[in-house]
Amino acid sequence: MKRYKIAWLPGDGVGKEVLEATQIVFDKLNFNAEYIHGDIGWEFWCKEGDALPQRTIDLLKEVDAAMFGAITSKPVKQAEAELIPELQGKGLIYRSPIVRMRQLFDLYVCLRPCKAYKGNLLNYKDNIDLVVFRENTEDLYAGVEFHPVPQELTDVLTKLSRPFGAFANHNANDFAISCKINTKKGSDRIIRAAFEYARKHNRKKVTVIHKANVVRATDGLFLETAHQVHKDFPEIEMDDANIDAITMWLLKNPNNYDVLVAPNLFGDIVSDLCAQMVGGLGFGCSGNIGQNLGVFEPTHGSAPKYAGMYKVNPIATILAGKMMLEWLGEKELAERIEKATAEVIAEGKVRTYDMGGSNTTLEMGKAIAERL
Ligand code: IPM
Ligand code: MG
Repeated sequence: MKRYKIAWLPGDGVGKEVLEATQIVFDKLNFNAEYIHGDIGWEFWCKEGDALPQRTIDLLKEVDAAMFGAITSKPVKQAEAELIPELQGKGLIYRSPIVRMRQLFDLYVCLRPCKAYKGNLLNYKDNIDLVVFRENTEDLYAGVEFHPVPQELTDVLTKLSRPFGAFANHNANDFAISCKINTKKGSDRIIRAAFEYARKHNRKKVTVIHKANVVRATDGLFLETAHQVHKDFPEIEMDDANIDAITMWLLKNPNNYDVLVAPNLFGDIVSDLCAQMVGGLGFGCSGNIGQNLGVFEPTHGSAPKYAGMYKVNPIATILAGKMMLEWLGEKELAERIEKATAEVIAEGKVRTYDMGGSNTTLEMGKAIAERL
């Protein structure tokens, strides 16, 4: 077996703890890898003005894949206030390192499987088995935002767009613009990834999520692209739904759905809903996948109030580890992790606080490792 290079990016708060538990599982698995620590997180924002330092970006260029814990994010003004004095007033702007990694490395697929493991008391219904494909690089996450709005932009929009007239009289500081930018290429590749997954895993249906009845330009393009891509996958059923309606339908009949694909923000929202139906963020795992790199993480954040307590459920991260192994082509190792995790859940003896128990993060890691 090849010796892999894995970037190990614990980040902040409970990120460190859940990765520690995942390490216990990997060590037991005899996964042949070198784990290379990477600096990332709030500490580096405060000390260096950069939560994702260049040396970590360079590390990511060298590795086969990365495991990422979690990061603390704070609003712009508070972020500025926590910088060391030498860095204040320099116009440094905090941007989420995970969003930056996705964009820098073009990790365009955000893959979020949500499966109701048997015996998980937190399951909303039995047999839920959803797979969310979230576009990961564009849409409202493009980072093209204005506040205050420059006069040049106001002038152009006044000229080009009739409805914009209603906003043009506001002072530059009294309105803000965040651009939702979606491309044909970006839409095509995420939708294609969803269909290809469906084909490979024998899934019956892909549901395209949008709001094309109101947000006609961008979501119209997304939906139109989906119809074109579908022609290459005639054996797979496709349907589509508005983002608002799908939240109700998913809750009502989760078993009617299979693979879901959505633009970035709607995918963010719907993937939290799906995670909650299979036990909450302690079970939500995520892969950020591009052509040359995959960064795998739990969907939950750094949970500052639990930091240092070793309370948080590491299953989401351990399952993210399973996704990483799968993506690296280590199918058998991936299956072993999933089987061991499913057994520990089904047995119900070792449970973290979210599962109604009092076991620690590391005890859960050990219990899964012992089952391997
Ligand atoms: C997620 C998270 C991130 C996102 C945050 C932490 C920037 O909510 O991965 O779903 O919005 O993408
Ligand atoms: Mg989210």
